[in-house]
This record gives sequence, C-alpha cells and structure tokens, in this order.
Amino acid sequence: MKQYDVLIIGAGIAGLYTAMNLPEEMRVLVVCKDIPWECNTFYAQGGMVTALDEADVPLHIEDTLRAGAYHNVRDAVGILSHESIEATEDIIDRGMQFDRAEDGQLLYTKEGAHSTNRVLHAGGDATGRYMHYFMMQQNKHLLQRNTLVYDLLVENGHCYGVRAMVNYQPKTILAKHVVIASGGIGSLYEYNTNSRTISADIHGICVEKGIELADMEMMQFHPTVFVKTPYARKLLLTEALRGEGAHIVDEDGKRFLFDYDERGELASRDIVSRSIFDYKRSTGKEVYLDFSMFEAKWFRKRFPNITHTFDALGYHFPKDRVPVSPAFHYANGGIACDTDTRIPGIKGLYVVGEAARTGVHGANRLASNSLLEGLVFARRAAETILGSVFEHPELPDFDKDYDTMLHEDDDKKYKQQLRQIMWKDAGIIRTQEGLHEARNFIYDTKNRTIGRLLELRLNTAAAIVEAALARKESLGAHYIEG
Ligand code: SIN
Repeated sequence: MKQYDVLIIGAGIAGLYTAMNLPEEMRVLVVCKDIPWECNTFYAQGGMVTALDEADVPLHIEDTLRAGAYHNVRDAVGILSHESIEATEDIIDRGMQFDRAEDGQLLYTKEGAHSTNRVLHAGGDATGRYMHYFMMQQNKHLLQRNTLVYDLLVENGHCYGVRAMVNYQPKTILAKHVVIASGGIGSLYEYNTNSRTISADIHGICVEKGIELADMEMMQFHPTVFVKTPYARKLLLTEALRGEGAHIVDEDGKRFLFDYDERGELASRDIVSRSIFDYKRSTGKEVYLDFSMFEAKWFRKRFPNITHTFDALGYHFPKDRVPVSPAFHYANGGIACDTDTRIPGIKGLYVVGEAARTGVHGANRLASNSLLEGLVFARRAAETILGSVFEHPELPDFDKDYDTMLHEDDDKKYKQQLRQIMWKDAGIIRTQEGLHEARNFIYDTKNRTIGRLLELRLNTAAAIVEAALARKESLGAHYIEG
C-alpha cells in the first residue's frame, strides 16, 4: 500500500504552512474534512500579531503572559514572540499582502490587552481569508477534500496513518509522519464562531488512545458575537473594532465595562466576555456594540467584510448599533505537545495550530496570537519532521474498524443537547453543580446507541468538564462561581 512521507490533517493556516515548509519532492498529502475554506483560519477577522522588532519582544511576551494569567509555558511564549519576526518576514517575502498605508508602511492595529499596536491585518477585516487564499495558492502539495478522519493508527508508541472516509468510502492512509492541524472544538457549544467542520473528532480519538489533552478547562469566549442567526456559526464582530475605538454599551448607552475593569473595552477577552455575561444576567439589559463615533467612509474601508455582511441583515454600520453576546471562539487547551510539536510518547505524530496545546496561550489567549501560533509552530513541525531519523516497525494489523458505525439515528438529537449543556454548564461562568450535570449527561449518552463521531465529541466534552471540575479556583477563561 502507498505510504506518504507526511499526512497533514487540516487545511487551515497551520496545516498549509506546514506543507509550504516541506520540500516539493516529499510525498505530502494535506486532507480536509469538507471544502478547504471551511476552517477557522478563513473566518479570522482581526489580524495576526507580530512582535514589531526585537525591542518589542519582551513586551509582547509580557502581554501574552498577562492575558494568559501566567499559566502559559514560558519557553513556548518566548519561541512564539522571537520567531514571529522571521515567520512574518517569510510570508511577506513569499507574497502575502498585509494592509499598508499610502506610503507603503505596514499598518498595525490594536486589540484587547495589547500594550501597543502590533496586529497586522489584510483586506481590512478579512485577514484570515486573505492568509488562507495566499497559502492555498502557495501550497505545492496534494490537497484532498472530503476526507473525514475517524481513527489514528497508533500502536506501540508509533503512528502509522489514519482511517478516514474519503468521499464517503472508508480508506486507510499510511504516512511516516502524521500532523494534526484539525483546529479546535467549536461544535461542542451552542453559540460559537467556528466553521461547521470543527467538531473535536481528533481530540476525541486522542482521549481514546490515552494521548494527553491539556488545559481543556481553558475555553475562550469572544465577547462580541451576533448570535441572532439560525446558523450554527455565529457572526464575529472583530476585537479590532474595539481596538479602533468602538464602544460596548447597554440599551441606555452606558459603557458599563469600566465597572468591571479599568481597561474597559480593551481588557483581556476573558474579562470582557464575563463582564458582558454577568451584566446581562444581573440587569436583564441588552448589550450593544456601538460604532457611531466612526466616520462612515473610513469605517467601510477599514471593515468592509463586516459592513457587507451586516448590511444584508439590515444593520447599516457605522450608524446602527448591533446587539452582541459572548460566544465560544477558541480552544486555549488541546492536544499536549512539546515546543517542537511532537506528541510525547508517539513517534511520527505531531500537532499544530488550535488543535495543539503548546502552552503559549495559558489560561486565556491574547487577541490575534492564534494565526501567529499557526505560523510559528507549523514551521517548527516541518523542521522537526525534516530532522527526524526514526523508522517505524513493521505495520501491525489494525483490525478494528468503525466504518459502518459513524452515525446512529439519534445522534443529531444528542449532539444538540450536548451543545446546549456545554453552553449552559461548561461555558463562561461555571458551577460545580452545573459541571456535574454536564458530566452525567455525557456519560449517560456514551452508554446509549450512538455513532462513533458523536462518541468522539463526547470524549472531548468529557475532557473539558473533567478539567473544569479538577480546577477548583477560577483562573483566566475558567471561572467558577460558588
Ligand atoms: C477577532 O478578530 O476579534 C478575533 C481574532 C482572534 O481570535 O484573536
């Protein structure tokens, strides 16, 4: 059977940039579950952080640590910041076009908890889309869509490949190196900003194989999301809006966030999300994002994507304010790995991007550090693979298969219940009682007749709830009441 040198699961920034850093003569296959642009990179709006220069590195490190409640892995944060300069130069040299001023200077914006303007952006508020398009063009390796991975072929500390549905047919894909770049866990939450493909399957497989997930209680909720749409993916209103000066107000126009934190709209994301959630709960008032201070022409040029999307919904920015709610946005925790992206104990298995827990984000990710993490650690994954010398032992028999068991009749109903329970009980503000309720639901559902894909989601949900139960004190994005 054909064996690839490298199989990359996921075609967002982390997967594609890993591929871009592997030589063309290697047999590399990038796979994605659906169409390639159904990934979280595509929907990223605000931008990508880079340290401005060597002098900014200590400040960027400090901002990242402070936002992360000092729960971060410091070595990983140091790598992120130091290597940001070279990684950013690399993609600019290859042709990535970030927004520039008329004189050609790169434009940097600010977001919450940054002490200076260091967020690059592209297409105004379409940074992820522009970066994704650029990387799709740059990638010279084979990219295969409609490939849903439902098992990792792991035995005796080696990973040999995956089992996947490829165009609805079960297939084995063998590879010497397997890179997980499958993103986070958005579909576990009723309100989330993620692509519909992001459903925690690979995390669930890791749980099954005894591969460590870390910091799973640290789920990040974005403060400003328009949730009043029927679609699973709710509409993000980028933090760059607040970075440029937009206000969060209640229905009487009061900027209540200063009652919670002196930085107001520019406090870190966990604080702003929790404050909005608490304010709504305690006052029963609606909360809005208000842009009325912006000049219309400037606003439409700076935020064309948002302007266009919301025009279609009947909101005419910057004149109209829009109701917002926090929603699940990003998994700070994930599949544990070292700073060279290796998954400890399993040769040939690596993880990059949102799927990974490198430790850079700690208890709460600093805004726009995620695209940067995707870049920096993807490069490291490629370097690790190119420098590796091991051989896999002979391919064992992998006789267990789940081809016919991916879905069962009641899965849809249970998935919906799971999303509601995770939002209610493992969301922005948690209680021991609520977490126990969520745990009961998860284990009860695991004992029912369910398909494998739901089982994988439940494994990941269990990891979140168990981690939240284990952490008795609030920290960063994990806030426990009572
Ligand atoms: C945003 O544009 O607010 C999201 C960027 C991020 O998730 O860091």
